[in-house]
Amino acid sequence: MTKLRVAVIGAGGIGGAHLRAYAAWPDLCELVGVADIDLALAQTKAAPYAIPAFADYQTMLDECRPDAVSICTPPRLHLPIAQEVARRGIACLCEKPPARTLAETQAIVAAFTDAGVVLQFAFCHRFHEPVRQVQELIAAGKLGKLIQVYNRFGFRFDRAASSWFTDAEVAGGGVLIDTLVHSIDIFRALAGEIVHVDAAVSTTLPVQVEDSASLQVVSATGVIGSLNCSWVTPVSEAEIRVWGTEGEAIIDYATNTGARYHLAGDHDWTVLPFELPDRFVLQAEHFLHCAHGNQPPRVSGADGIAVMHVIEAAYRSAQGNQTLVRP
Ligand SMILES: NC(=O)c1ccc[n+]([C@@H]2O[C@H](COP(=O)([O-])OP(=O)(O)OC[C@H]3O[C@@H](n4cnc5c(N)ncnc54)[C@H](O)[C@@H]3O)[C@@H](O)[C@H]2O)c1
Repeated sequence: MTKLRVAVIGAGGIGGAHLRAYAAWPDLCELVGVADIDLALAQTKAAPYAIPAFADYQTMLDECRPDAVSICTPPRLHLPIAQEVARRGIACLCEKPPARTLAETQAIVAAFTDAGVVLQFAFCHRFHEPVRQVQELIAAGKLGKLIQVYNRFGFRFDRAASSWFTDAEVAGGGVLIDTLVHSIDIFRALAGEIVHVDAAVSTTLPVQVEDSASLQVVSATGVIGSLNCSWVTPVSEAEIRVWGTEGEAIIDYATNTGARYHLAGDHDWTVLPFELPDRFVLQAEHFLHCAHGNQPPRVSGADGIAVMHVIEAAYRSAQGNQTLVRP
């Protein structure tokens, strides 16, 4: 297989993770460049890979001619950069959230569909081995009929108030679109399409967006989900629990093990192994195979659109239609 030429646009926190992930697959790709309007940052991130750094991503695309890129910029730039990347016929791994709005997400998907070019949204938890293990338990019927899913991603996001993450014009919203977007994608992967959502949000920091959010969702098959995220609670927690009529399973990101499950009649929990690379490395591998034309993306444009439908419904729910318990 010929190696794909891969570049990264946006050299911040997640841009570094993408560079590291591509570097893990030297037989599938070669890194050819990294671009960031902060040239010094791009140079710092490029140095370990001995690749050129650029302050302007279009110059990088002109000079490096990549076959595939990661878009790792703040969400406001996902649409214009994606349109440029699609126009050039370059395969694209676009970070979450897909964009600031459903309309922008649909425009991204349309650009790649029209160009006939591979687009994968970076919902990285699909590639977290314990999530895949629980998907397998569910598909094999081991947990019985799926009843409920609980998820919490909570942590203290110290720099939130001073970053673009709390600027709705750049991010599209707060913790709901930034962090709970993962929860929605994971719920859909485990329980299927969401048909109903009720949302509650709160703001604790001195910011204009929500910094805690809870969603109650229901899938087309009647699975109930409780999805909770916060940027203001001190103990970092990342957990998914799944209950079925015949057993339950837990994904605890704080452990180094795989998922654990407990079936009806079991005395103990069964702990599954987890020895694979991390989710960013596996996500990159899958994207590279898709860009090579070997398979369709496991996280498609349609997934991005479906998730953004839920995000927008959740914001509508949070902003109105609240039923008061007492008038
Ligand atoms: N999948 C995950 O778990 C995960 C984790 C963190 C962030 N993200 C997502 O990744 C994206 C970036 O987040 P981050 O945490 O890396 O943010 P960041 O602020 O650390 O990095 C973003 C970088 O983009 C650069 N940038 C801005 N405009 C640019 C332009 N025109 N051209 C090139 N670079 C430009 C900035 O200078 C900055 O260095 C966001 O969409 C975010 O939601 C995903």
